This record gives sequence, C-alpha cells and structure tokens, in this order.
Amino acid sequence: MTAVLEVKDLHKTYESGGEPVHALCAVSLTVDPGEFVAIMGASGSGKSTLLHLLGGLDDPTSGSISIEGRNLAEMSDRERTLFRRRRLGFVFQAYNLLPTLTALENVLLPSMIEGRGAGDREGRGRELLATVGLGHRLTHRPQAMSGGEQQRVAIARALMNDPALILADEPTGNLDTVHAEAVWRLLARLSHEDERTVLVVTHESTGATFADRVLFLRDGQVVGSLDPGGEGHASLVATRYAELAG
Ligand SMILES: Nc1ncnc2c1ncn2[C@@H]1O[C@H](COP(=O)(O)OP(=O)(O)OP(=O)(O)O)[C@@H](O)[C@H]1O
Ligand SMILES: [Mg+2]
Repeated sequence: MTAVLEVKDLHKTYESGGEPVHALCAVSLTVDPGEFVAIMGASGSGKSTLLHLLGGLDDPTSGSISIEGRNLAEMSDRERTLFRRRRLGFVFQAYNLLPTLTALENVLLPSMIEGRGAGDREGRGRELLATVGLGHRLTHRPQAMSGGEQQRVAIARALMNDPALILADEPTGNLDTVHAEAVWRLLARLSHEDERTVLVVTHESTGATFADRVLFLRDGQVVGSLDPGGEGHASLVATRYAELAG
C-alpha cells in the first residue's frame, strides 16, 4: 500500500523579530490511505504549524512532504493551489467563512472556484450541511450563527470537493459534547467507509479515541503514538497524553 502522506525530517523555524522559534524539529510520519490520525499536544507544540505545512500553505525550513506520491516542494505555486483545491479539505482553527455568504454559499464556494460541471452541486452542498446538522441553517450568514455552527459549515465546506486528505485543526473546539461527537463520527465514517485520509488536531481525548492512531507532539517533536483501541478509551489517551506531552 502506498502511503498517502509521507513526511521526512520536517523542520520549521520562525524568524520573526528576536529569538528564532523552532516550531517543528525532525518530524517524520507516514499515513496510509483511509487512516484516521489524531494529533495531540499542548498549546504551542507545533500542531497548527504541521497542518499548515501539510496543506502547502507554508513552506518548511527543511525536510519533505509528499502527498499521494507528489512532493509539495516540487510543485509550482499554481500546481500547488490546484492540488490543494482538488485533493485536500482544510478545516482551519479559525473557520475562515466568508461573512457576506450564506452557509450554503460558503459550502458551495470550493466547487464554484473549481468550476466543476454543475452536476448537483447545490444538492451536495445541502446534503453536507444536513450531515453536520445544519439543514435548517442554509441561508444564515456567519454572523447569524453560533461558533459551533460556523465550525460545522467549515467542515461541510472542506468536504465539498470530495478530498482524498482532510486536514482539520481542532474542528470540535467550539462544539458542545453532542455536536462534537457527531463531528467525530462523521470524520470516522469518512475515513472508515469512504477511504478518505483524515488528520485532526485536537485537545479532546474522547474525540481522539475515534482515530486509528494518536500522535503526540511536544515542543515541535513527535514524542510518541498510541492505538486508542476504540471509543470508550478516553482515559487511556488522557493518561498517555499526560505522560508524553502534557
Ligand atoms: N508566524 C509565526 N511567527 C513566529 N512564531 C510563530 C508563528 N506561528 C507560530 N509560531 C510559534 O510556533 C510555535 C507553534 O505554534 P503552533 O501554532 O503550531 O502551535 P499549536 O500547537 O497549534 O498551538 P495551539 O494549541 O495553541 O493552537 C508557537 O510557539 C508559536 O508561538
Ligand atoms: Mg493551533
């Protein structure tokens, strides 16, 4: 089986002003198609930095990233933009919804940019919003939705172009337990039934138990991993987190 994601010896050092910040140090990882990986680590441990690099939104200081066998560094800006649009679904820590568009329009946006044949684009957008429990908020604009609702719109939007790899940065950070669990189940289903690869940054050990593997980051390094062994093992995840990354 060819890995969908291969990261080798990744380093990221930020040089803004004073002291350089080593946000990532020698991170290597391999993720198989259809695998669901949760990434945990304290605030500032480099989780968002890692996702941004994997999504081609920023360049590493050194090291390489290959997605579906293609080295991101060898793509032109245009190739990278197209690749990101067609193969990746990104859920940002800040939802990045466009304030002037309705929920449905925000979800449809990626497919409109992509200019995919009409198909049943709108039907798919509605279906995705219904999946995240927002079938009744199609025409609401972001400022008329709660944080959790905006987060769910962002998740639906990330799925619109049918991505092979989904990168999500704390997608349940603003959700109550019920909606958070719905999102975890959705992500698990996308990976286990639709063979999509899912990487999710989270602080929630309960949520992480839905993943096939949990990776722990500390000070920019992968310090360990765990097979959570299924739902209901949140205390196992929490204990390991405290040992390794807390
Ligand atoms: N643009 C930047 N310039 C300088 N330093 C940065 C920049 N972005 C992040 N950092 C620093 O890099 C480190 C890792 O940041 P990152 O955002 O990846 O953390 P994180 O694990 O996502 O944290 P959180 O859980 O709070 O979201 C932090 O120490 C942060 O201050
Ligand atoms: Mg972050």
